[in-house]
Amino acid sequence: MGKKNKRRDEDAESPQLNPNDGNGDDSDNAKKLKKKKKKNKKNEKPKERATVSIAVPASIIDNVPTLDLATRLAGQIARAATIFCIDEVVVFDNNGEPNRDPVMENSDDESGAAFLIRILRYLETPQYLRKALFPMHNSLRFVGLLPPLDPPHHLRKHEWGPYREGVTINGNSNSTGTLVDVGLAKHVVVDQLLEPGRRVTVAMGAERNLDSDLPRQVVSSSKPREEGEYWGYQVRYARNISSVFKDCMHKGGYDYIIGTSEHGQIIKSHELEIPSFRHLLIAFGGLAGLEESIEEDDNLKGKNAGDAFNVYLNTCPHQGSRTIRTEEAILISLQYFQEPISRALQS
Ligand SMILES: C[S@@+](CC[C@H](N)C(=O)[O-])C[C@H]1O[C@@H](n2cnc3c(N)ncnc32)[C@H](O)[C@@H]1O
Repeated sequence: MGKKNKRRDEDAESPQLNPNDGNGDDSDNAKKLKKKKKKNKKNEKPKERATVSIAVPASIIDNVPTLDLATRLAGQIARAATIFCIDEVVVFDNNGEPNRDPVMENSDDESGAAFLIRILRYLETPQYLRKALFPMHNSLRFVGLLPPLDPPHHLRKHEWGPYREGVTINGNSNSTGTLVDVGLAKHVVVDQLLEPGRRVTVAMGAERNLDSDLPRQVVSSSKPREEGEYWGYQVRYARNISSVFKDCMHKGGYDYIIGTSEHGQIIKSHELEIPSFRHLLIAFGGLAGLEESIEEDDNLKGKNAGDAFNVYLNTCPHQGSRTIRTEEAILISLQYFQEPISRALQS
């Protein structure tokens, strides 16, 4: 429901006070109104934060000849997602086998989705947590050559913030709390018993003295984002394009889905109207585009791009090169969508 409608509904429920109607005591009515508004506010569910997801084909990795070039490509996707504050990156295959998750196979010689997902997750993790959370792997051989993402949750050792990402560690935890490495000179204690090796978001509180035993709190990883700070992206695997849509991690799914292609509609960025949304998805295709992904998907038989997406857009008309590569299209398109998205979020 749009903000405007909601406000109208609230107004309809409120008693209409006319200071000149002479019915009853004005201050009594005002008090009743205040009480009712307070009660309504209490019953209101906290508003779910709007999110933006991108879907990226795993095939782009398989079209690259060497491991170092594949690593660089994955790094470009990670940087684009971070620059534009993307909440979720969905990596999709065209014809993945049912019930097979290549990420779980943990093969030494990864390709496609497994490789891309590993690099995206590694880069999103603050440097000081990587050793604990990512065992050595062949796919990570060239990751040190990549430019860092440098998002707000990758805090340096000397920096203080209201939240820090941490990993629970073994040893010295007591019966009421757990030690967490949050990348500071000393570990902190949180007020929960948690198994070691788990990534957590810690609310650091007001106490900056690390020698103090005051326990800190573990909060949801979405808490900093709810307070307006970009806090990285999540990564999900989808075995085909229909699973990208269907297996959305948000209840109710994506409420607006955009496809991108040189065959899409041409609309100037400032004229594009994206309706008010909770969860927006922007999909990118591989070498043969999203049209091939739709054609090869058994769940979308007989459908075309016009049926699969709410809108199918060409975000870079008058291109000088015959093809725009996916990694280039992601940067171009996310810049193109920036203004329409912020208008949609304000409506
Ligand atoms: C190599 S292109 C695929 C070319 C394909 N003929 C197509 O449908 O655009 C890879 C992806 O980059 C994106 N792309 C390429 N050119 C685009 C454009 N002009 N506008 C929007 N997206 C574009 C699309 O997501 C496309 O699937």
